Amino acid sequence: MASTTPAHRSDTHVPPSRYNFMVIVLTSILGLVGLTYIGAIIAFLLPRAGEGTKPVDIGKITSTGVTGGGITSTVGNFQAGVAGPFVYDSTGRGDAQGVFLVQTSGNPGSTSANDYIVLDQTCRHLGCPVAWTGSGSTGTFNCPCHGSVYSKTGQVQAGPAPAPLYKHNFSIDQNGDFICKGRMPS
Ligand code: FES
Repeated sequence: MASTTPAHRSDTHVPPSRYNFMVIVLTSILGLVGLTYIGAIIAFLLPRAGEGTKPVDIGKITSTGVTGGGITSTVGNFQAGVAGPFVYDSTGRGDAQGVFLVQTSGNPGSTSANDYIVLDQTCRHLGCPVAWTGSGSTGTFNCPCHGSVYSKTGQVQAGPAPAPLYKHNFSIDQNGDFICKGRMPS
């Protein structure tokens, strides 16, 4: 009568040969190298801030503000040297982004890009949109969520925001049109 007792593991277990061991080691190494390349390719393909942006013509700069199709006077007029927020696709992927055009020097309506900076509307704390409150020649950007306050040039003056407002690349063309070109890295 045949025994029903299963063979002990040590009776059937075959230890991996040196060949199998080398195959496993080489496969693991190649796998790690492959993952590294895949990570590098993904990092290369993902757009960084501002990359992929097509320049967007916001409107024409005048002494009173920025004019153009779809720009209301509320948004386009300079108030203490700040106009906006103007919304445009800052990444080339359909990401609507509000920005302010801030005149920091020069005569009203100057068409020299050196006289301006362009600030992102997004608060650096948790991303709420800041609003400009300006009168006379001064004012601040205020966040309605947790009270962060930024100066006219985007520097943190109060609140939990850990960093200044982002700036955007821009130019002013020969017609005096204000062209947005994407967010700068922090
Ligand atoms: S999101 Fe602006 S202060 Fe918190």
